[in-house]
Amino acid sequence: MRVVINMKRTIALNGSVQKDLTKIIQAISEFKYAYPSKSVSLTFSSKEDLPTLLHTNQAVEYQTNGFKAADLAKDKPETKTAAIFLAGTGTVGSEILRQLAQNTFEAFTPFVFGICNSKKATWNTGNLEIKQVMELYKDADLNEVNWDEISANIIDYKAGPKIFIDATGSRKVSENYERLLENNVSVVTANKIANSADLNRFQKLNKLSNGPAYYKYETTAGAGLPLISTIRNLKKTGDSINSVSGVLSGTMTYIFEALQNGVSFSEAVRNAAENGYSEPDPRDDLSGEDVVRKFLILSRVAGFSTGREDVTADNQTPESLRDVPLKIFWEKLPEYDSFWKEKTAIAKRNGQVLRYVGELSGGRINVGVRAVSAESPLGNLRGTDNQVAISTRYYKSPIIIQGPGAGKEVTAQGVISEVIEIADKF
Ligand SMILES: NC(=O)c1ccc[n+]([C@@H]2O[C@H](COP(=O)([O-])OP(=O)(O)OC[C@H]3O[C@@H](n4cnc5c(N)ncnc54)[C@H](OP(=O)(O)O)[C@@H]3O)[C@@H](O)[C@H]2O)c1
Repeated sequence: MRVVINMKRTIALNGSVQKDLTKIIQAISEFKYAYPSKSVSLTFSSKEDLPTLLHTNQAVEYQTNGFKAADLAKDKPETKTAAIFLAGTGTVGSEILRQLAQNTFEAFTPFVFGICNSKKATWNTGNLEIKQVMELYKDADLNEVNWDEISANIIDYKAGPKIFIDATGSRKVSENYERLLENNVSVVTANKIANSADLNRFQKLNKLSNGPAYYKYETTAGAGLPLISTIRNLKKTGDSINSVSGVLSGTMTYIFEALQNGVSFSEAVRNAAENGYSEPDPRDDLSGEDVVRKFLILSRVAGFSTGREDVTADNQTPESLRDVPLKIFWEKLPEYDSFWKEKTAIAKRNGQVLRYVGELSGGRINVGVRAVSAESPLGNLRGTDNQVAISTRYYKSPIIIQGPGAGKEVTAQGVISEVIEIADKF
């Protein structure tokens, strides 16, 4: 049996197709890596003895998209795939892995080619299932990871469309985005740092999202809620954004609700951290930095050239705890319980509750703690819910988007949905 792959360079494989299936898949993957936008056609000299999967053009197409897809295409005839590297295996990252391994997607079959956190990295060198890669990762040797090496390895890895997922809160990790995008690796990030820093960088990263690599970051504001995509779609259709306002910190709502129920401030903050609702360092929530970053991202997506100089924010981290190590922060936090108890009680006497509210208007951002009526829509928010009102030229009565704005399941789902969106383009 002779197989010829017609493309810019021709690869001829002699011998049984059954036997050479791995070679074929590898050859196609190498080709797709070098020419991501080109399609591959295979010519067979005879149809006899072909593996069932190679009987249709469709099946061949699946194999061009990754290593493993051919096997799985049997059960999922319309499936797309992508080769994923995951950085960060904390609250969000480990849930992403869990959902990927569960593989209950309608028309998507993920392939994970690497995983890392700040202490170890594992590579899938043998076409392993996700669960097997997770096992290898669990037992991997601890070693400080070197990001020059990791990004070079990602770029060199031979696979179909490659997607880098950033589920860290790390600046160092986010510094790799440009290099990856310029080398045809898409980036899906839950990490707000790159988009909320320098405006030029935000614009550059978005310019690099033009195919074959794409840059996606829906979960950086409102976790899984469709805030960024809604604003983007409004802009695409010629609308302009007048204001975006509301509660974008599920963590702060969770903390204020606990205070209303008599829980102490320090315990409420600790519960938020232990349940994975807060940022890795809860001071990013208390300082308003997390909300500021989200509003900066929304403002920039809305088309405003907003920088840090356009932001006013109230910091709720006591001054003496702003620059101390996290361990000291936790030890000293109970000293501020009485201040918050009193603040909550005053609001309650006035029929109000505390909420961390933000507003974007004309490219300027204002965020801080406000006492709002307990009966108002913001006052009625529960758990980690966010509520955002978007007013536009056409939507004078605002579009309201409400739902969980934090939590590992919804965030992981939001990240994976962007991974699938990218895979669908190939
Ligand atoms: N939690 C949520 O509900 C939520 C919602 C939306 C967006 N996000 C965003 O998602 C990201 C992750 O949040 P999380 O709650 O999962 O945080 P987390 O539990 O603290 O996990 C952070 C992970 O990042 C890894 N990491 C940190 N620095 C690294 C480095 N230099 N190189 C490689 N890995 C590094 C950590 O490694 P180690 O394990 O070695 O420490 C850890 O595995 C953050 O950017 C957060 O803002 C979270």
